[in-house]
Amino acid sequence: MQSSFVSVAVVACLCGMASGAILFDRACPTEVDAMSYFSVESYLGKWYEIQRYESEFELNFDCVQVRYTLNDDESVEVSNSAYNLFNGSSINALGRAVLSFPDADIIQGKLNVSFFGAPNDLSNYWVLDTDYQTFSVVWNCQPVGEQQSEESFWVLSRTPTLPADTDIMFRIHNIMRRYIDRSQVRFTRQVDDRCPVF
Ligand SMILES: *[C@@H]1O[C@H](CO)[C@@H](O)[C@H](O)[C@H]1NC(C)=O
Ligand SMILES: *[C@@H]1O[C@H](CO)[C@@H](O)[C@H](O)[C@H]1NC(C)=O
Repeated sequence: MQSSFVSVAVVACLCGMASGAILFDRACPTEVDAMSYFSVESYLGKWYEIQRYESEFELNFDCVQVRYTLNDDESVEVSNSAYNLFNGSSINALGRAVLSFPDADIIQGKLNVSFFGAPNDLSNYWVLDTDYQTFSVVWNCQPVGEQQSEESFWVLSRTPTLPADTDIMFRIHNIMRRYIDRSQVRFTRQVDDRCPVF
């Protein structure tokens, strides 16, 4: 069965894509650290979205997957896909990511991700922790005026479900406890026969 595609305007605001943010009535927290000594090469490949901040744009999308591939110019191609289990529509979006500050002495897990050829002018994808092999915790905050902010949050996994590993759970929960509003977090369905293999 062929799934239908939604419009580009909607796709541009999807998940795992450094967008799909939710609004908070507070300024961006300033004490959040991205990972140090980040390796883009180790981060390449396929990831499954396990949790995210739900936004209206991403509403009802599950089976979210993202694939990172190195481009010739050392930027990263970002290929996102998601499937709506309620109405069978799927969405795909192609983007480009670059390290936010490639000349820093210590490379941090901060990337500028953009879609559909938009400029990479926002540091909007911060890897707070990853072991590259199993899990990644990604966060971003963009100020909206002086009193508000838009935050994104994703937990990614190399496999459709996270392994029940105590150390990994501890690392993820440690970050969530400090920075994440759990009431806004949505679990992404990955284990469903209808999830397409992208
Ligand atoms: C399916 O639902 C999504 C949002 O929930 C909507 O954007 C999309 O247009 C719908 N697709 C179809 C084919 O109804
Ligand atoms: C990424 O975006 C930030 C602004 O958030 C900018 O200062 C930086 O120069 C950008 N990096 C690249 C490589 O374009």
